[in-house]
Amino acid sequence: MGFWVQLAHSLNVAFGGNRLTLRIRLREEFLSRFAGREDVLAELSGAVVVVTGASRGLGRTIAEEFGSAGAKVVVNYSRSKEPAEAVAKKLEESGGEAIVVQADVSDAGQAQKLIDETVERFGRVDVLINNAGITQDRLLRKMAVEDWDKVVKVDLNSCYYTVHAALPHMMEQENGRIVNISSFVGEAGNLGQANYAAAKAGMLGFTKTAALELARYGITVNAICPGFIGTDMVNAIPEDVQEKLLKTIPLRRFGKPEEIAKCVRYVVEHGDYMTGSTLDINGGVYMRT
Ligand SMILES: NC(=O)c1ccc[n+]([C@@H]2O[C@H](COP(=O)([O-])OP(=O)(O)OC[C@H]3O[C@@H](n4cnc5c(N)ncnc54)[C@H](OP(=O)(O)O)[C@@H]3O)[C@@H](O)[C@H]2O)c1
Repeated sequence: MGFWVQLAHSLNVAFGGNRLTLRIRLREEFLSRFAGREDVLAELSGAVVVVTGASRGLGRTIAEEFGSAGAKVVVNYSRSKEPAEAVAKKLEESGGEAIVVQADVSDAGQAQKLIDETVERFGRVDVLINNAGITQDRLLRKMAVEDWDKVVKVDLNSCYYTVHAALPHMMEQENGRIVNISSFVGEAGNLGQANYAAAKAGMLGFTKTAALELARYGITVNAICPGFIGTDMVNAIPEDVQEKLLKTIPLRRFGKPEEIAKCVRYVVEHGDYMTGSTLDINGGVYMRT
C-alpha cells in the first residue's frame, strides 16, 4: 500500500470525521517523516554510489572521487572490462569498497541488472550518477538512423532505465541523489551532433521532471553540463580541430575530469536544497542567460 493511501486509511480509522484532529495528525506525520531528511547524505562515508560508464574518463574520475570520500562504489562498464577492474582494484587498495558490474545501460534489462546487483551486494543504492555516454558525429544530411538511435539509446534512454530501476529502492529509503551528466552541447547545439545534442537536451527535461516527481520522496535530481573535458571523447577529435575549439573557450583550455568530479560530489554532498538544477562547468564556452 502506498504511503499516502496507508496514511489516509489509518487516519480514517483512527479519527473518523474529526477534521481538526485529522489536520494536526497529518501535520505531525508529515514532519516526523520529512524532518531532518536533508542530513541523510551529509556523510558520504558508507553511501552506495553507482557510476555508469566508470571504466574511463569522467566516470572513472567520479568513481575515484566518491571512493576517496569513503563511499561504496559500483563501477559500471559496457566493454572495457580490464580498465573497469583496474578502477575497482585501485579503490580497494586505498581502503575502499568497490564492485565492478558489466551492463550496457542502453538496454533496460541490463540497467535493471546493474541496480539489482548493487542492492544484492550492498543492500541499497544512495547515489546514481548517469555518466555513460557516446558520440557518433555526422552532419545531419549524412546521419543514418543507426547513428541517431545508438546515441539516443546510450545517452538518454539509459537515464530513464537506471532511474526507473533505482527508484523503488530510493523511495523505500526516502532519500537518494541522482546526477545526470549532460553536456553544454545539449544547451547550445553543435555542428555534427544533432543526435548527441538532442539526447543531452533530453536529459535536462528528464532531470527537471524527475526532480518534480521525486522531491516528495527525498530524492534530488540534478544535471551537470560539462564543456570540453580532456578525456578519450575529446582526445579523439583531430588535433587541428582541437586547436580551433580551444579558441572558442574563454578560459583557453579543456577542463580536467577532476573539475567535473568535484562538482558532482558537491551536488551529492552539499546539494540538500538543490534539485532540478543544471550546472554549467565549461570554461565559459557557453553562457546561459
Ligand atoms: N569529455 C567531454 O568533453 C564531455 C563533455 C560533456 C559531456 N560529457 C559527457 O560525460 C560523459 C563521460 O564522457 P567521457 O568523456 O568520460 O567519455 P569516454 O572517455 O568515452 O568514456 C565513456 C564511458 O562510458 C561507458 N559506456 C559507453 N557506452 C556504455 C553503455 N552502453 N553502457 C555502459 N557504459 C557505457 C564507457 O565504457 P566502455 O568502454 O566499457 O563502453 C566509458 O566508461 C558522457 O556522458 C559524455 O557525453 C563529456
